[in-house]
Amino acid sequence: MNRITAAITAVGGYVPEFVLTNKILETMVDTNDEWITSRTGIKERRVLKDKTKGTSYLAIMAAKDLIEKSNLDPAEIDLVIVTSVSFDMPVAATAVFVATQIGAVNAFAYDLQAACSGFLFAMSTADAYIKSGKYKKILVIGADKMSSIIDYTDRATCIIFGDGAGAVLFEANEEGLGIQDEILKSDGIGRDYLKIDAGGSLLPASIETVENRQHFVYQDGKTVFKYAVVGMADVSEKIMQKNNLTNDDVDWLIAHQANKRIIDATASRMNLDPDKVLINIQNYGNTTAATLPLLLFDFEKKFKKGDTLIFAAFGGGFTWGSIYLKWAYDSK
Ligand code: UT7
Repeated sequence: MNRITAAITAVGGYVPEFVLTNKILETMVDTNDEWITSRTGIKERRVLKDKTKGTSYLAIMAAKDLIEKSNLDPAEIDLVIVTSVSFDMPVAATAVFVATQIGAVNAFAYDLQAACSGFLFAMSTADAYIKSGKYKKILVIGADKMSSIIDYTDRATCIIFGDGAGAVLFEANEEGLGIQDEILKSDGIGRDYLKIDAGGSLLPASIETVENRQHFVYQDGKTVFKYAVVGMADVSEKIMQKNNLTNDDVDWLIAHQANKRIIDATASRMNLDPDKVLINIQNYGNTTAATLPLLLFDFEKKFKKGDTLIFAAFGGGFTWGSIYLKWAYDSK
């Protein structure tokens, strides 16, 4: 029997309607379009305005898009993983609610948190389950309602983040396509540089934590930038070397959309032509766990069966890594 690999067989996505442009942000904080564009590459981001809806709404919409497009019977899904940093609630897992809402009645479900690298780590989890033969269809959803945890008076963070979700289905493949290799990393040194201080067991919610705005994302951008530039480029170069891939062999770079300058640095270390580097940061900003699947959603039509994709991400924690995947189908 051929070796079993875990391949992506369907993609879905969703971004909310409201467009928060750099021009609008200029009226909210002391910033300007020129600064945001030149420092980050971001022009606009999406925001889920409906206060009654959480991250699960974005995840459900992305999953439903996938199910509709691929004619998937949700009852066949074995496992649903939602990765995010803005889950609906601290205790009841968002993935469980999402699985029920999309009709994945035979699946079990759980949340996975690894900040901006969450989607990579969830891909690795799906890969291990499928390779082992334990489960056959795994839905991985990256979703974040960043607007629910962003302080719109803090210009250092509010210009960066946006809301969105992307979903992919992993299935067993016997043609050698799908996930080929991974390099995943973490280092607790990052905990102080990108975090939400309050609301966890270390600093539970109180009047003081609310007054001190400690339930919002704090980022020391300069420090995170330095680590991200080195970390993402390192693992992307290493995964190529480890698998004897030249720049000609790589068809697409699927890089976490945190800052256009970090993506450019990674592409340059890999010596990639710019047309192989997929970018949608200008439209969505940093959607945290959703950036990688939203790239697949936006550019799915470009991919051909057998194409070599290198995924790369860097995020809070710190967490980072790279995955080498062979695309498994020609998009219609
Ligand atoms: O996705 C998870 C991982 N996250 C990342 O990878 C993000 C990594 N970090 C970054 O992308 C960048 O550090 C930022 C985009 C967050 C900031 O860019 P930067 O080039 O590192 O700017 P900076 O923080 O060094 O600030 C430069 C200047 C400062 O002014 P002075 O001190 O030079 O006078 C800031 O006060 O720009 C000022 N500044 C702004 N000006 C206009 C900071 N934010 C803004 C703003 N608009 N929004």
